[in-house]
Amino acid sequence: MYPERPAGIAYGGDYNPEQWPREVQEEDVALMREAGVNLVSLGLFSWALMEPAEGRYAFGWLDEIIDRLHAAGIAVDLATPTAAPPAWFVAGHPDVLPVTRDGIRIGFGGRQSACSSAPAFRAATARLVRALGEHYRDHPAVVMWHVHNEYGAPLGECYCEHSLVAWRDWLRRTYLDLGALNEAWGTTFWGQHYTEWHQIDLPGFNHTVVNPAQRLDFARFSDAEHREHYILQRDILSELTPGLPVTTNFAGTVNCKSADLWQWARELDVIANDHYLKAERPDNHIDLAMSADLARSVAGGEPWMLMEHSAGAVNWQPRNIAKRPGEMRRNSLAHVARGSDSVLFFQFRASRFGAEKFHSGMVPHAGTSSRQWREVVELGADLRRLAGVRGSRVEAEVAVVWDWESYWALELDWRPSVDLTFRERVDAFYEALWREHVTVDFVHPSADISGYRVVVAPSAYLLAESSAKNLHRYVEAGGHLLVSYFSGIVDEHDTIHPGAHPGALREVLGLSVEEFHPLREHETVAVDGFPGKIWSERVNLAGARSVRDFTGGPDAGHPAVTRHDLGAGSAWYLATAPVTGLRELLGEVLDHAGVTRPRGLPDTLELVRRGRHLFLINHGGEPVTVAGVTGTALLDGTRCDGSVTVAAGAVSVVLDDTPHQGEPG
Ligand code: GAL
Repeated sequence: MYPERPAGIAYGGDYNPEQWPREVQEEDVALMREAGVNLVSLGLFSWALMEPAEGRYAFGWLDEIIDRLHAAGIAVDLATPTAAPPAWFVAGHPDVLPVTRDGIRIGFGGRQSACSSAPAFRAATARLVRALGEHYRDHPAVVMWHVHNEYGAPLGECYCEHSLVAWRDWLRRTYLDLGALNEAWGTTFWGQHYTEWHQIDLPGFNHTVVNPAQRLDFARFSDAEHREHYILQRDILSELTPGLPVTTNFAGTVNCKSADLWQWARELDVIANDHYLKAERPDNHIDLAMSADLARSVAGGEPWMLMEHSAGAVNWQPRNIAKRPGEMRRNSLAHVARGSDSVLFFQFRASRFGAEKFHSGMVPHAGTSSRQWREVVELGADLRRLAGVRGSRVEAEVAVVWDWESYWALELDWRPSVDLTFRERVDAFYEALWREHVTVDFVHPSADISGYRVVVAPSAYLLAESSAKNLHRYVEAGGHLLVSYFSGIVDEHDTIHPGAHPGALREVLGLSVEEFHPLREHETVAVDGFPGKIWSERVNLAGARSVRDFTGGPDAGHPAVTRHDLGAGSAWYLATAPVTGLRELLGEVLDHAGVTRPRGLPDTLELVRRGRHLFLINHGGEPVTVAGVTGTALLDGTRCDGSVTVAAGAVSVVLDDTPHQGEPG
């Protein structure tokens, strides 16, 4: 359920008027109108103002602001302020303060200062949210609810006494009997056998490594506890305002490791994502694209909302590089290209005080006589021209497997190499596909993947038997699967699948792995055609054939890249991390699978089709001409008859408005 209003693409962002005197608030609304802002998020951190003392609600100040916005035609995404419990509440219930893994109870003064499992926090949340919902249920400006802020960041796991109680409960509900838990956790190892539920502790700091199955379950539990806190609020709001969508903003699909967004997505009416550039990375627009594709994927392909990004610099990275002219526009339109129906920022007006005073806003400290503001106004005009994009879908022929549980498990302690990380591999494959101008979806390994020509599984370490069967069926039915090393190794309890690695994938890949040979830091190993890093291993063929062999290192003369023709499809395997040459290898698989893509374009041009709109975003320093494009370039109103030229750093969105067969001309 996407919010019905505002029409077209939503534009605006977090708005914190409580930090400003009335005259500035009035100026803000005038500026919002100038820029074409049509949606703002209010109240995110305003619990202390909404409920200055227990049970005493004060919404008058907020009424005044919402009425003013409404009079100006600006819709409100109203937040529940539970990410900032007030001082009076925390002082009265110091036990709600979260405890870190090394046992330190955090103090008050930041945000997210209450444990999601703490009963007092849940009770106070429910009371406040009901009061807020009842007060605003009929206000015409409120078009959606925004619960909390970024669950999981910064508070992921909590090791307090309330977490311990809830954890034991969760284990009891999950395993029902202690024997099943002992079995799943492999407690015969290091003599950890439990005979009573109350013996089970939190997997806190230890002088050695804590049972990995216990830690994996604790990651599941912690995420589920935050979700319970969300659901508590969502249920109240849905009861009071059944017609309004409820969401919470993800702390960056690709960056918030602790939240399993496949699970979260089921509980949200509309997916909302935040994304901040890794400011120092020159190609940070690729991470942005990945974040947007993952948001669209967890939304099941439906349009989603970019709830936050920045107009310029952030303030929390080591060097907060400001966005250059045109960069905010490219960033914003890349999110829209990849399925977002909104462009929202943190925050409308940059703060004068507090922890984020050096963070950019749509209105900078320099005011409206600034490049920043001019670009904000121009972007508003661009988005009005793109109103027709709303609701349209992005189609992808290639999918990349992304499973948070596998991500958690892979990065627990004592793996064969510290260089084995999930993001290292996913990023490498995603970047190669991005540079090949191939749009991808992300999928859970148990999902229906039959519609994709190619599925890539980068270091899919944890793979349930049923997911492995899903991949097997996919290949037999004609799909093309590309798997990288250290995949299919363990089941859902981090227990190694029986027999030689990769237990869950031996059959589909037509091979087994006899021995791992992780490489030294910076060491490379020669493969026929490219150098490999991080990993080498001894592959024994059992149905697959070698496409390229290692020519050096511990596995010289043995397969490094293999292909197994199975049923109507093929399963490829890559036993190292190519330093260069991944694009070429991927290209072979894509060609074999018949994935068409534009050729001869610079790899700094981002090209995405959304419905009948072709988005061309030029991240390079030279103009690019793309042939085979006909339609109306919406941002400047020109016609394209067979080609379009995109200036350096510019964006073009071409609407294919030629009548198609079967459509009225
Ligand atoms: C987000 C957060 C915002 C703001 C922003 C700054 O993670 O949701 O409230 O802090 O970062 O970049």
